[in-house]
Amino acid sequence: MDWNELEKACESCKKCELYKTRNKNVFGVGDKKARILFVGEGPGAEEDRLGEPFVGRAGKLLDTMLASIGIDRSQIYIANIVKCRPPQNRDPSPEEQTACTPWLDAQIELIDPAMIVCLGRIAAGYLIKKDFKITAEHGHWFTYNGRRITAIYHPAALLRDPSKRGDTFEDLRMIEEESKLIK
Ligand code: URA
Repeated sequence: MDWNELEKACESCKKCELYKTRNKNVFGVGDKKARILFVGEGPGAEEDRLGEPFVGRAGKLLDTMLASIGIDRSQIYIANIVKCRPPQNRDPSPEEQTACTPWLDAQIELIDPAMIVCLGRIAAGYLIKKDFKITAEHGHWFTYNGRRITAIYHPAALLRDPSKRGDTFEDLRMIEEESKLIK
């Protein structure tokens, strides 16, 4: 499937119950040839309304975090583990994640990024390892099909608990350094 076919197919996806309550499918945004892919959890209310990832409060913070290491969102690609909003912003269930992640797998194949940054434990639990512990393992490097992969706290977690921001600042610096080494 090429990019347009993939996006079209994803838009009409009914592989789990989340399609029943979605307003918009939130496929992803950014440079389809990006060297760095950021992966969040799933759309919130604003994202569901506008069809774009990270446009609410957490998204504004993500933009600030990116700017602190000289990155604009147009230079990267941003996607989520699930493409439709889980009601009340609950965690996507294991069944919903299993139904939805083939879309992300296909996006990763097409983008072919050199580095992946997981935003929070849900993304890390799928892309790094099942029992990923965000508190202990954020900012560590792992490998995903030959790519560098790491996880940082989700911006929504930083809004809830600003004491985590220092750690995230260091993780972002580490990502900035690593990004200088990738082509
Ligand atoms: N939180 C996420 O994980 N993804 C979004 O797109 C917005 C908020």
